[in-house]
Amino acid sequence: MPEYVDDDNPPEDTGIHHWETIAEVPEDVKKYWAQRYMIFSKYDRGIWMTEEAWFAVTPEPIANKIATHVAEAAPANKTTIIDAFAGVGGNAIAFAREGRWQQIFAIEKDPNVLECARQNAKVYGVEKKIFWIKGDCFDEINKRFSGRNDTVIFASPPWGGPGYNVDQVFNLSTMQPYSLDAIYKSFAKICNSLVLYLPRTSDLNQIAKYTPKGRKLEVSHYCLRGASKALCVYFGDFQFEGE
Ligand SMILES: C[S@@+](CC[C@H](N)C(=O)[O-])C[C@H]1O[C@@H](n2cnc3c(N)ncnc32)[C@H](O)[C@@H]1O
Repeated sequence: MPEYVDDDNPPEDTGIHHWETIAEVPEDVKKYWAQRYMIFSKYDRGIWMTEEAWFAVTPEPIANKIATHVAEAAPANKTTIIDAFAGVGGNAIAFAREGRWQQIFAIEKDPNVLECARQNAKVYGVEKKIFWIKGDCFDEINKRFSGRNDTVIFASPPWGGPGYNVDQVFNLSTMQPYSLDAIYKSFAKICNSLVLYLPRTSDLNQIAKYTPKGRKLEVSHYCLRGASKALCVYFGDFQFEGE
């Protein structure tokens, strides 16, 4: 029997679900559901998902590794982290569990997806450590964080759906619905520490164009079972071991 954190059942008619048996799972989601404990190790305790979230969520081991890297490498004066595209909470939960941050903000425009994130954070015991914002991240970040210099923005934007990996090299200038340039320009004017989570096949030449003169940009691949699943680009004064 699944071990629910409390009596929470997904609200009806919202597209939110907690599937317990493979018979409930749509055909195109089955391969993701089969990896549910890799995605959320506490899946059985009442994790909520939407159908699209199965394709989009950051798996827990990767979210944890990114959270460790960001915490270790961010400049000491950075005390707040903003998860701009929070989804169902994969990364926000990892940032909250990591423990470095005085404030964690999670922004998500889809109210049902945000409900999933809150529930999932509850499952992991960190719901109250996160400020939840329903809205457009470009507006919200502009409105709430302009003029602050203690923030890091983490952004895992949509990559255009599950078919994103058909091309050998992923074109970041046609990424849908927001291109690399649109994301970078919106956030870089507000915050000088930005971490972007992008497809593993992203065009590194396009990324390299954003390297400040005489400086380097850090790009890290994150792997599961020996294969890269995604990469992060670290823009700003992140300090990695061995540099
Ligand atoms: C790739 S998913 C994020 C997955 C997340 N890292 C996780 O682990 O669950 C991208 C999310 O961004 C949301 N989104 C898209 N545009 C947005 C915007 N302008 N502001 C806030 N959220 C947005 C989508 O609804 C989607 O849930």
